[in-house]
Amino acid sequence: MSELYVCKVGELDDGSVRLVGEPGRQIGVMLHDGEYLAYRNRCPHQGGPACEGVRIPQVQDVLAEDGQFLGQRYDENDLHIVCPWHGYEFHIKTGEHVINPAIRLHKHKAVVREGAVYVQL
Ligand code: FES
Repeated sequence: MSELYVCKVGELDDGSVRLVGEPGRQIGVMLHDGEYLAYRNRCPHQGGPACEGVRIPQVQDVLAEDGQFLGQRYDENDLHIVCPWHGYEFHIKTGEHVINPAIRLHKHKAVVREGAVYVQL
């Protein structure tokens, strides 16, 4: 299995993304909560650069014990990547679409070895 060099450990800030690979076949590598995640930078909808989209937390309804709607809040433990072309949202930890988990970003394995980050192709 071949690998691509991404960066040295510590070069990538939490919340940022580094694109590696050839144009049209790029992989977005991101650091999230201390874990390196890597997805093909191609949205399963129509091929947009999903990894370059903004990240927003899941919006949750807040309900009273009797079911009354009280409002909404962000779930900071469930961050989404939003594809910049048409707004499809994917869970950053899994790459799954937030509504239909059958739609997902193509995940690659990121590995840390000898102080550097690599992504497996
Ligand atoms: S190409 Fe990503 S939402 Fe359409």
